[in-house]
Amino acid sequence: MPNSQDIPAAESVEELKLVAISALENSSTSEELEVWRVDFIGRKGKLTSLLRGLGSLAVDDRRVVGAAANRLRGELEGLFEKRIAVVNSSSAPLGSIDVTLPGRKPASGGLHPSTQMIREITQAFNEMGFQTVEGPEVELERYNFDMLNIPQNHPARDMFDTFWVDSEKDDLLLRTHTSPVQARVMEANDPPIRVVVPGKCYRYEATDATHEWQFNQIEGLAVDEGITFADLKGTLYEFARRIFGPSQKVRFRCDFFPFVEPGVDMSIEWKGNWLEIMGAGMVHPKVLENAGYDSDKYTGFAFGMGPERISMLKNEITDIRHFFSNDLRFLSQF
Ligand code: DAH
Repeated sequence: MPNSQDIPAAESVEELKLVAISALENSSTSEELEVWRVDFIGRKGKLTSLLRGLGSLAVDDRRVVGAAANRLRGELEGLFEKRIAVVNSSSAPLGSIDVTLPGRKPASGGLHPSTQMIREITQAFNEMGFQTVEGPEVELERYNFDMLNIPQNHPARDMFDTFWVDSEKDDLLLRTHTSPVQARVMEANDPPIRVVVPGKCYRYEATDATHEWQFNQIEGLAVDEGITFADLKGTLYEFARRIFGPSQKVRFRCDFFPFVEPGVDMSIEWKGNWLEIMGAGMVHPKVLENAGYDSDKYTGFAFGMGPERISMLKNEITDIRHFFSNDLRFLSQF
């Protein structure tokens, strides 16, 4: 039952309209508008109680006043929407943006940790006269294996289980190392050659903390008349000092790679242990000849290393998979 205050009359619709419109015009913030909305057109607002009071009117009056009150609701809702739009557009710049707040640094990206390491290493070699070159990641079997003295059925191919690419013409694969670029560079240039070759490599491999199926390598190649094993040692020793510090110790041990003779691995002393960081050796005469060089006239050395492994040592990273999992918690630490 409506109480006596709420009993409407025809003129009370007109009155309510005047009061509502003037109150709306005086509302100039979104908070004030919300108070107005609740007060006039809300579920328990003045218009609703006016409509509730209709029951006590005579039937004819009820119809007239009811229709007027419903028209008023539509009108007030429309005016309210317009007013909100005006208030929002004019108060936003002053109301919600603090123009006195000092500027904040926009979030900016950075170089991937692998890229940073690759740049540091290639720069060390660039300063020693090596030029940076790149080769294709989808490689011909010929360059990845044959030209490097790894013929069909050679057991060394087992070290490089890889992804093959369906192709009708040539045998294509995702390169297993950056060494094929040695052959490409020699084919296309005459000595003297001094290059470093960074790039992505792939192997069909089960992943764990120290193995990824994708990784980077940096290859190096120097070919000229009179290059000796002393040049190899001197260059790689200098590289280790530039990357790990001036008192870095290194160790060379015999190792086998089909494309070098003799072959070695180089380790660095790290926290009391010797850790292998690259393979290297004197370019095999067959590799020189495959590229059309006279192996009696020219000699050279080559090396290959994994920048992720070196970054893991330097930055105490315990799992190589972090490099390719794209987790900002890892990436943003560099
Ligand atoms: N390509 C070799 C690998 O992926 C690394 C390597 C060893 C490169 C000896 C060389 C080298 O140039 O002389 O395991």
